[in-house]
Amino acid sequence: MCGIVGYIGARKVQDVVLEGLRKLEYRGYDSAGIATLDHKTIRISKSLGRMANLEDKLVTEPATGTIGIGHTRWATHGRPSDENAHPHQDCSGRFAIVHNGIVENYLTLRDELTAKGHQFESETDTEVVAHLIEDLYNGDLFSTMVNVAKHIRGAYALVVLSKDHPDMLIALRKSSPLIIGLGEHENFVASDIPAILEYTRDVYVLDDGEMAVVRQNGVECFSLEGTPVHKDVYQVTWDAVSAERGGYPHFMLKEIHEQPKAIRDTLTGRLSEDGRRVVLSELTWSKSYTKAVDRIQIVACGTSWHAGLVGKAVIEKLARIPVEVEIGSEYRYRDPIQTENTLVIVISQSGETADTLAGLREAKARGRRVLAITNVVGSSVAREADDVIITWAGPEIAVASTKAYTTQLIALYLLAAYFAQERETQEPDKLKEIISALGNLPQVAEQVLDTAPQIEEFAQTYKGAADTFFIGRSLDYSVAMEGALKLKEISYIHAEAYAAGELKHGTLALITEGVPVIALATQPELYEKTVSNIKEVKARDAFVLGMAWVGDEELEKSVDEVIYLPATLPLLAPIAAVIPLQLLAYYAAVARGNDVDKPRNLAKSVTVE
Ligand code: G6P
Repeated sequence: MCGIVGYIGARKVQDVVLEGLRKLEYRGYDSAGIATLDHKTIRISKSLGRMANLEDKLVTEPATGTIGIGHTRWATHGRPSDENAHPHQDCSGRFAIVHNGIVENYLTLRDELTAKGHQFESETDTEVVAHLIEDLYNGDLFSTMVNVAKHIRGAYALVVLSKDHPDMLIALRKSSPLIIGLGEHENFVASDIPAILEYTRDVYVLDDGEMAVVRQNGVECFSLEGTPVHKDVYQVTWDAVSAERGGYPHFMLKEIHEQPKAIRDTLTGRLSEDGRRVVLSELTWSKSYTKAVDRIQIVACGTSWHAGLVGKAVIEKLARIPVEVEIGSEYRYRDPIQTENTLVIVISQSGETADTLAGLREAKARGRRVLAITNVVGSSVAREADDVIITWAGPEIAVASTKAYTTQLIALYLLAAYFAQERETQEPDKLKEIISALGNLPQVAEQVLDTAPQIEEFAQTYKGAADTFFIGRSLDYSVAMEGALKLKEISYIHAEAYAAGELKHGTLALITEGVPVIALATQPELYEKTVSNIKEVKARDAFVLGMAWVGDEELEKSVDEVIYLPATLPLLAPIAAVIPLQLLAYYAAVARGNDVDKPRNLAKSVTVE
């Protein structure tokens, strides 16, 4: 949610900032802007819409200088417009700021500042901060910013540029992510690592409640109260190429195809050499805690929440521990019932989702142990949780999550099998069979990708559909929910997922001739029941695309077309079944001419409540 870039050094600041913003567009793309300082003048250029609009503007009016800040916006307060685009300034034009987050007390501050004569040009919460800086400015930018931090409530990552201080940027972090890239005679500020990866792999990850004074030849970090803090340099291990499209037309397609590798990387080191035991050496809790856990609450949002639904089914089945799956934005407000030994698991690709992070903090405040499953080392959830399982999916850039989901599932399968192994809740041979099948999932994912041409053709035929329904039972229902979400977010086709047996209790009224129904039938014990539900929609003339295991000759008698999945255990079906659904959403979005990687109104990382 909003991307920030700051630079100070010897390069042309416009190039660095624009390049960085391009890498951060996944965080929002309602508008973009840049402020640079040159010859004691702050020059601002901003534009509604995608980065390309800003770039066009800069062709005729380049942003000169070697120090500056930039922003790509996902609108919260104030509609997307030129005026509401960042950077924002005070009345005197002495300061320019970019902000990610929400200043919760901005209305009160705005009233106070208006009464003092400040004039506002936008509807944003951010502009208030620019005027507040002006109001509190005492000639020393650092102590002014310490004072500013005392006055603002809410979440913020802020970077300030001042024409009185051409030798520094000041960056502040409370709740919204911010990193400092450390170069040679140049330094960077950014919301996320890809923005600076081209220049350096050495970063300081600012913690909540910290600020940094960034100069060309050095960076000093402090608490928001102004006390110096020591930061360790974090070395980024992945390279810039893995954050590029690498020949694919879209990041989403690249990331779908990266799933076999991502699954393999997430399994690596977590299975014993003979492939029959789970080894989760990152878990720091005791053997007795493994046995004592009597309840699990999974907290997540969006696609990560869908992964949690699969996690519930698998953990309950294998480890016989009751699991609840909670939406992050609901969990903290509903006074969840917990026991002393309730384990809370938060799942977040980015590790920065505000609602999930709030759930984590709620659980910690209640004295619970928290395990984070996240894709980003050093992210907020990774740092605040007691234990962390990293999904090694690599950077996920497309807004629609794909490889993060499948690797989250892998982490949950590993955890479920680990609990079952340590608590001895399964027949040893049966468990070994499951664990060794987990080891084969990279090959399964590889084979499923072969369904792409069939799915592409189907998507071409059905690109004009107004509504689509996804049905399935048990694990198939959880995957159906993810399939429907994928289709909605990028193709904008209305899609709903239903437990196949529930359709007849209302939604069947919407099934008319030609309505596409995607029916998942991968669970043998529920196969016949699902086929009965398929017949119910066929009887209403729906067009049914079925999904079943290779070798199933029955299903094609009941549906119009079948996608065959390569064999694996039914318990592991979600990994195989979700890939064709991701491809379906992708090809439908392409066929409709949509911006696949940056769907309207959405952002990859939502760091506000
Ligand atoms: C946003 C993204 C979704 C994602 C959700 C949770 O809404 O568009 O794709 O699933 O946030 O993100 P997280 O990083 O916490 O997994």
